Amino acid sequence: MADPHLMVVDDAARLARAGADVVADVVHADGHVTIAPATGDTPVGMYADLAERHARGDLDTGGVSIVQLDEYLGLEPGDRRALYGWMDRTVLRPLSIDAGRVSRLPTDGDLDAACAAFDRDLGARGGIDLAILGLGTNGHLGFNEPPSDAASATRTVDLTRDTIEANARYWGSEGDVPTRAVTLGLRTLLDARRILLLVAGASKHAIVRRALEGPVGEDVPASFVREARGSVTVVVDHAAWEGE
Ligand code: PGA
Repeated sequence: MADPHLMVVDDAARLARAGADVVADVVHADGHVTIAPATGDTPVGMYADLAERHARGDLDTGGVSIVQLDEYLGLEPGDRRALYGWMDRTVLRPLSIDAGRVSRLPTDGDLDAACAAFDRDLGARGGIDLAILGLGTNGHLGFNEPPSDAASATRTVDLTRDTIEANARYWGSEGDVPTRAVTLGLRTLLDARRILLLVAGASKHAIVRRALEGPVGEDVPASFVREARGSVTVVVDHAAWEGE
């Protein structure tokens, strides 16, 4: 069982650097790695830091494969809100990872069957080496909304009101936030060889404390990182940890 390694850092620049150091370690230790990268605001600075390392020739991403962590459902092709597009802009292009090395979550057809097949294929390929995760104000990881149990599979979900309110800032208004999504399940995430959880800002204070110090359970899906199979690093900025 994992004992999360907690790093409390002063500010956004240090969070970005500390996170990027973890990612670079994983990539350097084993050239062929499968990474599930979170979208959202929190990891953006870290991806920019990694992109600078890559541009300088200090981070070879030639062996990196990507697994999509989550995606909205019900979007038309080319919709600006697609999380694949966010990942493409902030992770794939800056790190020279082409689309052929990305496993995209299913978004149409028989989604139950497609999600089950996705988990089977991912498992057969050895699962995830590094899951880069953000923390929802409701305690979600990916779109594993509360309640989500530790064995939950990749599946479709209805987003909670908390998530829709929190994500309105990306897209304009609450009415612009899709209400359904597909997410890697907690089972797959908790099975990763390494988890990097990034948490920033005073709005995450209560939930990060609940996740790391409160009871472990499905009401705070992120609390299950304390029972993850692999090693867990949590990088939290001062504002989130102290609430000020
Ligand atoms: P944020 O999103 O990084 O934009 O705060 C985190 C999340 O909802 O998982």
